[in-house]
Amino acid sequence: MSDTVKVIYGNKTYELPLVIGTEGEKAIDISRMRTETGLITLDYGYANTGSCYSSITFMDGEKGILRYRGIPVEQLAESSTFIETAYLLINGQLPNRAQLNRFSVLLNDHSLMHEDMRSFYEKYPRASHPMGILSSMVNALRSFYPELQSTEEEINITMTRLLSKVRTMAAMSYKISRGHKVVYPRPDLTYCANFLNMMFDTPVKPYRLDDELVEALNVFWILHADHEQNCSTSAVRVVGSGRVNLYAAISAGIAALWGPLHGGANQAVIEMLTHIKNDGGNIKPYIARARDKNDPFRLMGFGHRVYKTYDPRAKIMKEMCHRILDKLNLSDPLLDIAMELEAVALKDEFFIENNLYPNVDFYSGIALRAMGIPTNMFTVMFAIGRLPGWIAQWKESMDDPNWKLCRPRQIYTGQTKMDYIPLDER
Ligand code: CMC
Repeated sequence: MSDTVKVIYGNKTYELPLVIGTEGEKAIDISRMRTETGLITLDYGYANTGSCYSSITFMDGEKGILRYRGIPVEQLAESSTFIETAYLLINGQLPNRAQLNRFSVLLNDHSLMHEDMRSFYEKYPRASHPMGILSSMVNALRSFYPELQSTEEEINITMTRLLSKVRTMAAMSYKISRGHKVVYPRPDLTYCANFLNMMFDTPVKPYRLDDELVEALNVFWILHADHEQNCSTSAVRVVGSGRVNLYAAISAGIAALWGPLHGGANQAVIEMLTHIKNDGGNIKPYIARARDKNDPFRLMGFGHRVYKTYDPRAKIMKEMCHRILDKLNLSDPLLDIAMELEAVALKDEFFIENNLYPNVDFYSGIALRAMGIPTNMFTVMFAIGRLPGWIAQWKESMDDPNWKLCRPRQIYTGQTKMDYIPLDER
């Protein structure tokens, strides 16, 4: 096969390089296209645009494949822990025992928050959304912990500090929002167990850790740990390309994740299912609305830019919901509505034609509800999970000698040149 692609424009033919990834995916390298042809490309939502070479995550949306550093997400969910997966994403390979121990020690060492940061939390209006708080608090970390980045060890400390503190900050914001005493991280607990303990332990009702819930949280975070060049990851890379500090780049990623079309969908799904339940539980009008082109309503938790088949994460998440609910001997009417919606949608012509399958957010809210996580914290849970991916992608971009300031072009459609009209003459 030719390793160039011919572009015919006017009466000239240009040859642009064809690049091929390790899994066979192909792209036209257009880096020199404007210089050579005077043309740029136009691609709304960058749906056909590759922004980088990356060796972190592989997705095949047609086959429903997701792998981190080559390892199928199903295997990681089955056998790994969130911390081990975070190490894998950031460092490119699974840690040996000594590396994993060292990583855990560092995570523990950096898990406390500067006490002065508490006053920020305490001054936030009580009704603030935790994602807004988290985004600004992560940005504020730069002032409390100036970034270390001259040696590899220093960069590791900054990245580990972020991983560890974001978890503490998330739990702390929940406690403060409820007017409860903050619970500090404990050195004897694992990353996930610590989070649950910081969220739910109280002086009057000590939290009893349940191994299965801890395991479920590990799986939940593993499933969210990276997803190649999605909206928030691209935000981290784009903002990072201006060479801002890591905290600012991650803060931008958190802000991007908040939107209901992206990470905010997990909250939106539960709100939608609750609305359907309160409306009598009949799903038919909602399916009809989702099909109606004149109605902006979308079935939240369905559809994905890349997956044109069942999201592999949703499969694991759905099984997990059943497992947790069975274990806790709970039933959730929202799970019943979700399963009914899924069953109908998977047979519906509109959903089939548009390749609309449940995505990770469709069942994740139900799993989180079962763990006791309040709805407005759902997207924060996604953010903690996505953090290793953001860090790995930021690091990869910083280490890439070809990485440039991100600065797309546009096709201007505004007023052509006109003269300024003085105020009195308008
Ligand atoms: N309900 C009803 N119709 C839909 C939905 C939906 N959930 N998703 C897409 N469509 C329709 C859409 O209206 C469009 O129809 P038409 O071509 O007639 O205008 C067609 O399907 C293609 O949709 P699109 O918006 O062009 O596709 P996209 O790749 O830009 O959208 C999406 C991807 C995730 C934004 C979209 O599917 C959506 O809004 N889903 C609901 C929100 C959601 O669950 N988001 C979480 C995504 S997974 C977590 C993450 O990784 O971010």
